[in-house]
Amino acid sequence: MEENHWYRTGLDHVWLPYAQMKTMRPPLPVVRTEGCRIMLADGRELIDGVSSWWTACHGYNHPHIRAAVERQLAQMPHVMLGGLVHEQAAVLARRLAALLPGGLERVFFSESGSVAVEIALKMAVQFWRNRGERGRTKFVAFKGGYHGDTTSAMAVSDPDAGFHDMFQGVLPEHFVVTLPTGEEAGAELESVLRRHGGQVAALVVEPLVQGAGGMRFHDAATLKRIRAAADRFGCLLIFDEIFTGFGRTGALFACEASGVVPDIVTLSKALTGGTLPLAATVASRRVFEAFWSDDPAKALMHGPTYTGNALACAAAIASLDLFEREPRLQQVAAISAQMATDLAPCRALPRVKDVRVLGAIGAVEMERIGDIEAMRARFVEKGVFVRPFGNVVYLAPPFTIAPDELSLLTSAVLGIIEEGVAG
Ligand SMILES: Cc1ncc(COP(=O)(O)O)c(C=O)c1O
Repeated sequence: MEENHWYRTGLDHVWLPYAQMKTMRPPLPVVRTEGCRIMLADGRELIDGVSSWWTACHGYNHPHIRAAVERQLAQMPHVMLGGLVHEQAAVLARRLAALLPGGLERVFFSESGSVAVEIALKMAVQFWRNRGERGRTKFVAFKGGYHGDTTSAMAVSDPDAGFHDMFQGVLPEHFVVTLPTGEEAGAELESVLRRHGGQVAALVVEPLVQGAGGMRFHDAATLKRIRAAADRFGCLLIFDEIFTGFGRTGALFACEASGVVPDIVTLSKALTGGTLPLAATVASRRVFEAFWSDDPAKALMHGPTYTGNALACAAAIASLDLFEREPRLQQVAAISAQMATDLAPCRALPRVKDVRVLGAIGAVEMERIGDIEAMRARFVEKGVFVRPFGNVVYLAPPFTIAPDELSLLTSAVLGIIEEGVAG
């Protein structure tokens, strides 16, 4: 059979994400991954600057994760968690609880970040209902935030961030306010809570970095203000660590780095090291206790078919092993230092608004990127996979990337911005 038969005959049946398929450039056919490289059908190799939407923190095909998944596949790929439980789910839950700070100890598994967020929101509303408060049904979220593409997750994302404009007027309305990055910026949050605090189930925030909303950074002081406001008005606090979790910002979790402990945290993306879909919504003991009852109606009525999938849990356990055994956080620190040095010259380039680096995230914010597809294609021509979005060119490479591979990424960013290819 001709080599690219699958591509020629199958592509017309695939609906690709975030794409106007009529006008987009044809997607690149990938045949293999290895380490920090993506191999294309025509033999080209791309250095990956995106880690497959921020998942592949150990690089691709890590032998330790592969071996764990292969072992689990031979033993039991999946069994439902309705009335059953298995070692992989129990071990992973225990290990996550041990890694997370202060009382975040009850883990609910799902298969994607958006669903983990849906579950967190449901937990928060039911937490209050189980305690007899039926009026707390609203959420406070933050401008620039992104929490996923399912309905409730869209409803707590910034409506102006560009993902969900089409659904304005359809989604339930919550309070989306300015992040309290200083005392003054906190006025809006304070005023919304003063007026509506009694209706608010929880505040939802991506701690330290708003990823898909534009790689915007904030700080521990901001999170402390949010925690204090939540406490003052008796609301729960949800940290969405789907992007920031597992080392991306330099610490294993942003909640640990900031010293602020939420009531619920969502995890996904790098949880399995980029191998299998898995997410977790982790609740504090206090939250879980509101569900612990002789009354069956107080149970959390949620159960994705593949919740706690054994293969995915085995991959996640192996990924946690790697965080223990290999110097991942030191690698993140080294990536951070190199990106800060290598990307600094971008500041002097025309149309560059800001250059910022935190952990293994490097972002160059432009005034605008005219032809983003042209810019993406130019990166591929330079042998790297980088996907700018909005007005941001960013790097979020695997933590195992070698310094010379990272140099190829940063010099491509510098070179392409210098060329002004995207107008
Ligand atoms: C902070 C955050 N929350 C939620 C999501 C949604 O995760 P998923 O795409 O797995 O549904 C994302 C995805 O980019 C994210 O960055």
